[in-house]
Amino acid sequence: MSRATAAELAALLEPFEGQKGATIDALKQVQARYGYIPEEAIDAVAETLGVSRNTVFGVITYYEFLKLEPPARHTIRYCMGTTCDALGGREILQEITSILGIRVFEATPDGTWHLERLPCFGTCSLAPMMQIDDEAHTKLTVEKVRRIFAERLPGEPAPIAGDGMPAPSEQLVKELEA
Ligand code: FES
Repeated sequence: MSRATAAELAALLEPFEGQKGATIDALKQVQARYGYIPEEAIDAVAETLGVSRNTVFGVITYYEFLKLEPPARHTIRYCMGTTCDALGGREILQEITSILGIRVFEATPDGTWHLERLPCFGTCSLAPMMQIDDEAHTKLTVEKVRRIFAERLPGEPAPIAGDGMPAPSEQLVKELEA
């Protein structure tokens, strides 16, 4: 992913010049362009809006949807809802973190996997479940997640086959994350 140049950032942030109350909007604009908030954009936002770097950094760390790291190639959204939890969700999540060597909300150092969690997908009859990119994986067990990741690690290439069920819509995910 290309780094943000000063000229690009200046053009992108021009509409926010001097607008101290527009930090979130300016950061959203940056993230929409680059997929995350590049380090160099923090100073550019601060200077353009006339706020401190700490203010910009504080907003980024407060809002979970604002990312300081480039997006990983694959996002795992793991359900942490009550039903999934009651059916062994914690043990399964622990297996995933162990396989990938990361915790929730972290990415693998090679940028391949990012692990997130959601409160409930709204499809509890298929619990425990997770979503990898656009594929839903349901009725998970520790064995099943081992098989899913064994198809991809090490190396990666082959696409993971889901359970043939559509992943929760973007709208639903946004509502759950709100
Ligand atoms: S609790 Fe996991 S889908 Fe509802």
